[in-house]
Amino acid sequence: MKSKELILILDFGGQYNQLIARRVRECNVYSEVVPYDITIEKIKQKNPKGIIFTGGPASVYGENSPKCVKEIFELGIPVLGICYGMQLMTHTLGGKVARATKREYGATQVSIDNNSALLEGFEKTNKFLMSHTDFVEKVPEGFTNIGFTNSCPNAAMENKEKKLYGIQFHPEVNSSINGTKVIHNFLYNICECSGDWVMSSFVEDSIKTLKEKIGDKKALCALSGGVDSSVAAVLLNKAIGQNLTCIFVDHGLLRKNEGDEVEKIFKEQFNINLIRVNAKEQFLSKLSGVTDPEKKRKIIGEEFIRVFEKEAKKIGQVDFLVQGTIYPDVIESGLGKSSVIKSHHNVGGLPDYVDFKEIVEPLRSLFKDEVRKTGLELGIPENLVFRQPFPGPGLAIRIIGEITDEKLDILKEADSIFREEIANAGLHKSINQYFAVLTNLKSVGVMGDERTYDYTVALRAVETTDFMTGVWSKIPYEILETVSSRIVNEVKFVNRVVYDITSKPPATIEWE
Ligand code: XMP
Repeated sequence: MKSKELILILDFGGQYNQLIARRVRECNVYSEVVPYDITIEKIKQKNPKGIIFTGGPASVYGENSPKCVKEIFELGIPVLGICYGMQLMTHTLGGKVARATKREYGATQVSIDNNSALLEGFEKTNKFLMSHTDFVEKVPEGFTNIGFTNSCPNAAMENKEKKLYGIQFHPEVNSSINGTKVIHNFLYNICECSGDWVMSSFVEDSIKTLKEKIGDKKALCALSGGVDSSVAAVLLNKAIGQNLTCIFVDHGLLRKNEGDEVEKIFKEQFNINLIRVNAKEQFLSKLSGVTDPEKKRKIIGEEFIRVFEKEAKKIGQVDFLVQGTIYPDVIESGLGKSSVIKSHHNVGGLPDYVDFKEIVEPLRSLFKDEVRKTGLELGIPENLVFRQPFPGPGLAIRIIGEITDEKLDILKEADSIFREEIANAGLHKSINQYFAVLTNLKSVGVMGDERTYDYTVALRAVETTDFMTGVWSKIPYEILETVSSRIVNEVKFVNRVVYDITSKPPATIEWE
């Protein structure tokens, strides 16, 4: 799928780069993040409607600071420089950047010229997030000032004729009031976009492209029941129907009833050619006696590949392997050093043994929220589309110590109660991940007049946007009380429930 309109985001290493790309897309314009040193030829080839320079930690006077060539401003393509991007534009075009004695940080009142096409529709002052030490002391020739703060004389500037704009503040973050409107203004008032990036056309175009690409050849997909692989599978199914085979390896470490639900949705609702492999015994036997978390992960990863391989071989030659890779997995870092690669659903990474010609990654250009919108467009049930993340190794890393059938049953029941009560309380959308953990700890309790010596279940619930950091969720006591009381009453062999009140860092979200 290719949208006709493109905004290129040149990544100078700022922490909000992906957010800028998402904001542009929220305004219905397709955007791509590219390394700052992309060549002029490449830019011309891509033919963007506009270019955005991101912020970044460097100073334009730094020896190794990322730079750009002057020619980029002579292409006739509108450019918006944000923070470091504005300073770089200034420096490259002959203005002056200076170092302030102290850093300006936080939501700050910015006085603006709302006659500018960039700031149209704003009041004369508006709160935007400032986060900088360097600032533009003198705008380049041909530019005029369109914004300032108490400590920053040039918080925004424009060269109307050449359609070059710079802002010292960050419109992409939530603490900038109506910040997205600045981006919207850039896209529509300055780049003259029409807004052709909508999920319904993504679905339509993708199906068409996949049909053309795959024709009547065969494709194979490892379906985990997670959002990404589910959306990829349904999209492929719409394009090539029964020529798609999905293999769902049920390692027996899924949540209560999950395996059956996945099978039901994909077989019954979408009539997908799905092979479910019930491999619980095989996985549990390999895991028998294993307590080390890393060993558990490794065994599950390897076993997953083995099972998948065996099934794939039965199918014979496949031409395409479908992967649910999404955009944040493939974005290259602006400083060109590292790229983020995640091997999520296929726990062990890419199955390199399957005899296929090509990989198909239909969601490669989408952010997670766009994958979800696509899922809804395709008619995938909401509870699956908004499913919380679930680790590839499943409940194995939520059972501390050895994994046994009995422990699995205990955890499935306790976890199911916790999730049910969170949903009953309407908290399932605000808590990003929540689950039960079966600790390896037994303690003394009393039930009726009987002494018990049973397991302790821990509850974990976190609020996070990126899952890299997070805070423990302040679930109301009454709800915790209900959950605790239900678990000890309804789940055999549990006599104690504790709540994990550690944020990440220093703890991780999962216990193993
Ligand atoms: P941690 O425990 O590292 O988890 O704070 C961060 C997020 O990643 C998920 N997670 C995994 N996902 N395979 C996955 O697909 C894994 O091996 C894995 N380990 C952790 C975890 O659930 C959380 O959302």
